[in-house]
Amino acid sequence: MIGKSMQDAMNEQINKEFFSSYLYLSMAAYFEDKNLMGFGHWMRLQADEEREHAMKFYDFILDSGGRVQLKALDAPATEWNSNLEVAEQVAEHEAKVTTSIHALYELALKEKDYPSQVMLQWFISEQVEEEKNAAELVAKLRLIEERGTAVLMLDHRLEKRGNGEEE
Ligand SMILES: [Fe+2]
Ligand SMILES: [Fe+2]
Repeated sequence: MIGKSMQDAMNEQINKEFFSSYLYLSMAAYFEDKNLMGFGHWMRLQADEEREHAMKFYDFILDSGGRVQLKALDAPATEWNSNLEVAEQVAEHEAKVTTSIHALYELALKEKDYPSQVMLQWFISEQVEEEKNAAELVAKLRLIEERGTAVLMLDHRLEKRGNGEEE
């Protein structure tokens, strides 16, 4: 049976994961509006993954005899000044999520909640991956400095995410 403070904290995390999904979907719409369909595809898959993250917490709470409580979602941004600015916001956002996953793990340690510790270890590794992907996108966009041909090449590359070619 999951403790009350862990249940509440995980319900907050569900909200954060759904917000991430919402944010990345908004970024997908921004890119697709600019006909950068590869960037859009990458963001759509990112949004799907965030929904899966939310559902992992959802299922874990239910499996542990707890109660899932969904909360209101904030509206995500809809406009950015550049492709680079979007990528930088992804990186910033993922860093925040990492902090909140680490705080959950701290709580699990404090409460000697072993099942939550095991479950959260997956998220700790996942965040390393998420931050790496975001940093890579930022680095590539800094390198190409919004030069049209290079942006289109990167767009083509990002379109391959999910084909086993690009994470
Ligand atoms: Fe996530
Ligand atoms: Fe994420």
